[in-house]
Amino acid sequence: MSINKDVRRVTTNTLQKMKEKGEKIAMLTAYDYSFSGIIDAAGIDVILVGDSASNVMAGHETTLPITLDQMIYHAASVVRGASRCLVVVDLPFGAYQGNSKEALISTIRIMKETGAHAVKLEGGEEALESVRRITSAGVPVMGHLGLTPQSIYKFGTYTVRAKEKAEAEKLQRDARLLEEAGCFAIVLEKIPAELAGEVSKSLHIPTIGIGAGAFCDGQVLVMHDMLGINTEFKPRFLRQYLNVNELASQAVRQYISDVKTGAFPDATEQY
Ligand code: KIV
Repeated sequence: MSINKDVRRVTTNTLQKMKEKGEKIAMLTAYDYSFSGIIDAAGIDVILVGDSASNVMAGHETTLPITLDQMIYHAASVVRGASRCLVVVDLPFGAYQGNSKEALISTIRIMKETGAHAVKLEGGEEALESVRRITSAGVPVMGHLGLTPQSIYKFGTYTVRAKEKAEAEKLQRDARLLEEAGCFAIVLEKIPAELAGEVSKSLHIPTIGIGAGAFCDGQVLVMHDMLGINTEFKPRFLRQYLNVNELASQAVRQYISDVKTGAFPDATEQY
């Protein structure tokens, strides 16, 4: 894939202007060069190299096992495929929690070894020191509130978050603090639409929702879920745009049959 150097890159500034103009932001995850190229060429604003790679690429039950080295491998592949969109990389579990110096060291590795443009980390008040330290080194940070999959063992379930008043108020406070600490955007995952709308209205920076309703400034989905590569995961918020699982399975079945019957290769497919 050739990268067009003349194409104007989406920046954090672009996203800020989109929010100000009321233009919605479209974000998808990607983990490799080929899909990154397809998604970028289709005109996506942001690619998130999510630690959901732990689930959809490596087959783990949670996002906890993926390592910083593995995230760097995925992110460098994605960056090579994308010439226009902003590429944001998840800081994986264990690469930043409770230690802002480590957060900065992990971020510097990501920025130097992948060529990505920003990092994302999960958490509110407890993540502020890391957000400040990373942004003061000149690296844009995306926050992530609501359902934070790296804390799954603390919460115990993947159900909707912040339905109760106290948790909703904490989320609103955390969002304000992340904005003040310098985040350029915040992912809101699996929270009531009304709350997400209030948070989006109260912030100057954009919110990107996943299972957080229509009032966010943008939306994100995991690519494998929206393309129907992974068909077992069917939460209410997911819109599946294609059934790649079925299409790929049909193609593979046809290939096997063609090989077994001798229909492949034919005279035009050999030298
Ligand atoms: O890892 C991921 O894919 C994410 C999105 C669900 C926002 O964090």
